[in-house]
Amino acid sequence: MKKQSVIEVEHLSKKFKEQIALKNLSFSVHAGEIFGFLGPSGSGKTTTIKILTGQLAQSSGKAFVLGQAVEQINESIYEQVGIVTDNSGLYEKMTVYNNLKIFAKILNVKKERIDELLERVGLAEHKSKLANQLSKGMGQRLVLARALLHQPKVLFLDEPTSGLDPSTAEAVHELLFELKENGTAIFLTTHNMDEATKLCDHVALLNDGLIVEQGAPKEVCLKYNTKKKYEIQLADGQAHVLPHSDETTEKIHQWMAKDELITIHSCEPTLEKVFLEVTGRELL
Ligand SMILES: Nc1ncnc2c1ncn2[C@@H]1O[C@H](COP(=O)(O)OP(=O)(O)O)[C@@H](O)[C@H]1O
Ligand SMILES: [Mg+2]
Repeated sequence: MKKQSVIEVEHLSKKFKEQIALKNLSFSVHAGEIFGFLGPSGSGKTTTIKILTGQLAQSSGKAFVLGQAVEQINESIYEQVGIVTDNSGLYEKMTVYNNLKIFAKILNVKKERIDELLERVGLAEHKSKLANQLSKGMGQRLVLARALLHQPKVLFLDEPTSGLDPSTAEAVHELLFELKENGTAIFLTTHNMDEATKLCDHVALLNDGLIVEQGAPKEVCLKYNTKKKYEIQLADGQAHVLPHSDETTEKIHQWMAKDELITIHSCEPTLEKVFLEVTGRELL
């Protein structure tokens, strides 16, 4: 029985016939933390979510959600877990509102919560629309609202913002930050490294079913900041990218003394670049 972490994964592997889809994964996710599981298409993200939510059995290793071993997950845990995946399972011929009403009933949630959530995900004015009349972004927000009805302790999100326009993605990000503030543990998969950098307290980079790096986004980037460089903008319009050296120190000192330095930035790699360096492949 694991107490402290909301999700605890130890040496988890998954085989589909001959193919090894997940290789010896270990990580943990705590309350109030957004954990980003990052990898290109086919790297094993959805398979991991399916195992952690009891929809698929692992081949070896252990995983616990809220202290319960995933292979023994029973219905009581779903009262504390929210899941958002592609296979949305919305009732297509029902309205937005009624889709939530059905789940509110099952989950024993007050009706007021439905309106509150519709407001939050920007669907209040579309509550009478049928689910099959929604755009992709609206459908995704409805699925998210449904997953949040019962204020889950842990939320699994499989590529929650893929295909969303930037302002809708931003609204989803704000909602996730709020959930995190309220102590929800969020397990999020994405292949968008910018999103991960912005949202996540902790990331794991997944390549072909193997975690190749993990840590706080900033830590991971700094670890690969081996060629320290500085990007400099001067008052006369000149721009320079200079290596970390005594000579650069001297130059910066002089520019500053003459008040010619407009901007200076360090050039540590992005998560995208780290991924490329570690795996030799792009995140597509
Ligand atoms: N039910 C399945 N049967 C056989 N292979 C599968 C099954 N589900 C996923 N896979 C394989 O496992 C690998 C990881 O898939 P998936 O977890 O869907 O990746 P991601 O979500 O990162 O795109 C892929 O090579 C995929 O083809
Ligand atoms: Mg997937």
